[in-house]
Amino acid sequence: MKVLVIGSGAREHALCRSLSLDPAVTALHCAPGNAGIAEVAELHRVDALDGAAVSALAVELGADLVVVGPEAPLVAGVADAVREAGIPVFGPSQEAARLEGSKAFAKDVMAGAGVPTARSYVCTTEAEVTEALNAFGAPYVVKDDGLAAGKGVVVTDDVEAARAHAAACDRVVIEEYLDGPEVSLFAVTDGVTVLPLQPAQDFKRALDGDEGPNTGGMGAYSPLPWADPALVDEVMRTVLQPTVDEMRRRGTPFSGLLYAGLAITGRGVRVIEFNARFGDPETQVVLARLRTPLAGVLMAAATGNLADLEPLRWSDEAAVTVVVASHNYPGAPRTGDPITGLDEVAAKDAPHAYVLHAGTRREGDAVLSAGGRVLSVTATGADLTEARERAYVAVARIGLDGSQHRTDIAAKAAAGA
Ligand code: AMP
Ligand code: GLY
Repeated sequence: MKVLVIGSGAREHALCRSLSLDPAVTALHCAPGNAGIAEVAELHRVDALDGAAVSALAVELGADLVVVGPEAPLVAGVADAVREAGIPVFGPSQEAARLEGSKAFAKDVMAGAGVPTARSYVCTTEAEVTEALNAFGAPYVVKDDGLAAGKGVVVTDDVEAARAHAAACDRVVIEEYLDGPEVSLFAVTDGVTVLPLQPAQDFKRALDGDEGPNTGGMGAYSPLPWADPALVDEVMRTVLQPTVDEMRRRGTPFSGLLYAGLAITGRGVRVIEFNARFGDPETQVVLARLRTPLAGVLMAAATGNLADLEPLRWSDEAAVTVVVASHNYPGAPRTGDPITGLDEVAAKDAPHAYVLHAGTRREGDAVLSAGGRVLSVTATGADLTEARERAYVAVARIGLDGSQHRTDIAAKAAAGA
């Protein structure tokens, strides 16, 4: 099977790594990719948002399957263009990707499907914003309706900060604050059959102790020793299957990866958000534990054959990933700095720990930072404690001037708290 992966983050590196280990994959291509992905896949230049360009590349390569990693190409309709060219694609149509592309649309689908989520108002005027903020009280949750790379959400006790964020967006969703630990649960679906993956937890805030601004995600771990073993079944029954059924009922079936961002509140599970693609950095830990070869799973989803797939097999090991980010991330990051220590991790820590690249590029012999999130250092171990230790040993070998990472990824869960 010849596979083309679209994207250039650590999620795409994790996808490419798993695909490169799958004996069914005879050729692996990625566009545009990064310096790390270049070690496992052949890179191609393409504008990932240009459906015609992506489908032309897929045709030229004779790809049997195209996997679209990030949300922006999906929302731009890239999966539709590839599908029209007659090539199976893992990723939802433009219309179905609105589940992620518009928070207001997602709320509407959840209402139709009876999926539990925070009560909310969609606001376009200052008066509506004031009314909604007063209705819910602090802490205030204000979300940009459109795509914002995980940075469009402000959660604050400061009403002026809440108002200011609302004023900076065209249309916002203001909602009830959900209290409780967060879980990311991914499901692979062909639009009818839904296959849940293992749950993971993401660390959204920039700084230790969940302080600082929201980011795209600073680390993740799986499994979740503290979670109810019945959680996955419950979310399948109350969230994932009803949402996939509702999308089909509306005439816009959702195939690809449905990502449920959940809060486990005192009153039960609530959906915080849907995404229409694999999460980053959670994918890094989920795929580290998946034993079933990945290409067949993605192909079955892309071709409507998930019902025939054997149950997924998982490793008993735990996995932890720690994101190394550029100076000033999630603000405008500093880029172009050399990264050292990558060879040392490969020589001393593999196969238990390895570095997945996000914003990197190669210049001669050097690997340079080229984005906000630069690396996702991933490790496996018998339990979270061992996986964490291995991840941080590898992080310590890496040099990147001004870089930042959280030191408490999976710490509480490893300690049994
Ligand atoms: P989102 O982009 O919707 O996932 O929001 C980003 C982050 O903001 C989430 O992972 C939560 O940490 C936080 N957040 C979003 N909505 C809520 C809510 N209703 N209550 C509490 N925290 C929230
Ligand atoms: N880790 C959060 C996301 O992928 O949206």
